[in-house]
Amino acid sequence: MSVNKEVKRITTHILQEMKNRGEKIAMLTAYDYSMATIVDEAGMDIILVGDSASNVMAGHETTLPITLDQMIYHASSVVRAAKRALVVVDLPFGSYQGNSKEALNSAIRIMKESGAHAVKIEGGVEIAESVSRILTAGIPVMGHLGLTPQSIYKFGTYTVRAKEDAEAQKLRDDALKLQELGCFAIVLEKIPAKLATEVSQSVHIPIIGIGAGQCDGQVLVIHDMLGINNGFKPRFLRQYANMYEQMNTAFKGYITDVKSKSFPSEKEQY
Ligand code: KIV
Repeated sequence: MSVNKEVKRITTHILQEMKNRGEKIAMLTAYDYSMATIVDEAGMDIILVGDSASNVMAGHETTLPITLDQMIYHASSVVRAAKRALVVVDLPFGSYQGNSKEALNSAIRIMKESGAHAVKIEGGVEIAESVSRILTAGIPVMGHLGLTPQSIYKFGTYTVRAKEDAEAQKLRDDALKLQELGCFAIVLEKIPAKLATEVSQSVHIPIIGIGAGQCDGQVLVIHDMLGINNGFKPRFLRQYANMYEQMNTAFKGYITDVKSKSFPSEKEQY
């Protein structure tokens, strides 16, 4: 399917229209200006400044260490690049769990200091008050259910969530609650495809899946789909390039050329 490049800026309203007419939504993470420029110019609908920056940009094992200031730094770089995509920014661990006022202040800082268009927040009914307060301030909120990486120490594993009836029912209830509160979309991460499709059909807001089968749209982490994370190949991931190999070859070529003095040549100097 071709990308509608006539659209000036993707809005939450346009995303809803896309779901209504059955047009799938493409979302990808980005954390810096150069990468976000390429992603945006390709015609991506949503760019997520994910707290996965903690893993892929900073090298942490989990998403927990990244700070609000660091998220704002990444987000402001992405916002400067994005001319078309809606830019959504994760509220990082520790910036909203305290209370709803803290959640609101963190969301306001993201919007004000980065210029982003919406925030994403992990959790269901437990964070209803925070979601509601952020929405009341006029800030669009994307929910995130299923495998919520900020709770990795509670889960103990990155395995598929909501396989058991009780957890699946809680996820259905959470999705309905987030919709009722006014979230404009929900990410469902690593849950059975059947459950994700059922939720996508039972709520009217867009559902974006990652490792969740067919939903209203899909999201991937950019380093994973470009094959930069050498060796990370979970079942749900489609790798569109092998940038690790290509970059490794380029770097080795450069080293060889420098050491052999073939670079710079006469044409490459003044
Ligand atoms: O931080 C992130 O990249 C995310 C996606 C995996 C949805 O939340």
